[in-house]
Amino acid sequence: MDKMTFVLFGGTGDLAKRKIYPALYNLFIEGKLPESFSIIGLGRGQMTDEDFKERVKNSIHTFSRRMSKNDSTMERFLTFIRYSKLDAANKEDFHSLLKLVQDREKELNIPENRLFYLSVSPTFFETIAMNVKNSGLGTTKGWKRLIIEKPFGRDLESARSLNQNLSNAFAEEEIYRIDHYLGKPMVRNLETLEFANPVLQALWNNKFIANVQITASETVGVEQRAGYYDQAGALRDMFQNHMLQILMMTAMHAPKQTGENEIRAEKRKVLESLRPLEKNEIEKNVIRGQYDSGIGENENVPGYRDEPGVSEDSLTDTFIAARLQIDNPDWTGVPFYIRTGKKMKEKSTRIVVEFKANENEIYSDEDPNLLVIEINPNESVSLILNSKNPANGKMESINVDYASEKLDVPDGYELLIYDALRGDSRFFSHWDEVELAWEWVQPILEAFEENRIPLHKYAAGSNGPDAANLMLEEDGFKWWLDK
Ligand code: BG6
Repeated sequence: MDKMTFVLFGGTGDLAKRKIYPALYNLFIEGKLPESFSIIGLGRGQMTDEDFKERVKNSIHTFSRRMSKNDSTMERFLTFIRYSKLDAANKEDFHSLLKLVQDREKELNIPENRLFYLSVSPTFFETIAMNVKNSGLGTTKGWKRLIIEKPFGRDLESARSLNQNLSNAFAEEEIYRIDHYLGKPMVRNLETLEFANPVLQALWNNKFIANVQITASETVGVEQRAGYYDQAGALRDMFQNHMLQILMMTAMHAPKQTGENEIRAEKRKVLESLRPLEKNEIEKNVIRGQYDSGIGENENVPGYRDEPGVSEDSLTDTFIAARLQIDNPDWTGVPFYIRTGKKMKEKSTRIVVEFKANENEIYSDEDPNLLVIEINPNESVSLILNSKNPANGKMESINVDYASEKLDVPDGYELLIYDALRGDSRFFSHWDEVELAWEWVQPILEAFEENRIPLHKYAAGSNGPDAANLMLEEDGFKWWLDK
């Protein structure tokens, strides 16, 4: 791997603490960072290098998946780190940063390969990108890359404008848009599952598959993020990005090669074939929900509107379920049901592929075969088949399964940062994907904003509003595996 400088905007923030430093440290102890590199953390406050290193060290002790047994490894890792105070709007600060970057490049004999990681509020993305360019930081003899976190815009227009502005400073192939779901090992495994198994390949189409269900349910609520979440809602926060990325990874055709361009082209085709929803079809195909106070163990959980920082008449969606159709020869007629919600009964991200029933009436008691891919928090793949119980001779469902729980699986950020450092952008969102996803979602956003779609309340701790169950019942299906 190339020697490089890792410039972290938001270096004193929460994501840096929980994810980025632990990821870099794990890569370091596994020998996946170059022999020489420079990490420069940036924040708004004044801090000495020593104090900053102490913070980094504490965050690693608290959040790292592994620790080296040898203390000197940590000390060595910290020698690569420096801190600089920076105000994103202050041009002078960028000049000081350039000087620090160059000094370290000289000291450590690092070529001008610079990665800029923007772990900051999106309101700063454009200013920072522009200042990186104008200060000369982005004029390098080596490579330069930009990593940004979501949200990438809040609708189609703002996303286009953001992209336009970023592209003044960075070319598309230099921009790595993180969708942390693409860092989840089981999402990265989808390609292999689908395409390296001729058995599944043969069945991966509308001849054999009845429907596909993608669920990301969370037990957490809005937590301390009401300021952001109440303006975003589940459609922007989860659906436009994470859920549509999983959809693309599930429905794409086998690429001819495993290079990033081929995979992207296949993913893009999925969104291009996604049937747009006309205004008058939205209500039938999209269920908008918001959690209310709880039931059962969640009895004392306040409703969304009673959460601190949420307005009492908020119409923000904390739950979305949608029926999507992909109009291509393989998937026509196979509904893809997608749902995601906060304060639901269980934390589970999973894909359930329901296979068509046997046409042979003799075995009509059978349950459908299901392929279940658990993504988070457990990682497993199981195939549910029908089998005769040897004791009583009755047919029953059996599970053929694989779980990776016991393996020491790297965190998604570790995988993604490693990819970006090597220049592998396969598991980042390309602009085409982001734009097409916003295009599909835009009419729904508008329907929500104009309040043309009912807002279904659901009890905290439930599986979401009944309307989401009815949508599947209309098609003769049900959500599988709800507890
Ligand atoms: C984030 C959303 O992108 O993903 C959060 O902003 C959500 O609202 C989180 O809680 C879920 O991620 P995970 O990895 O816990 O499924």
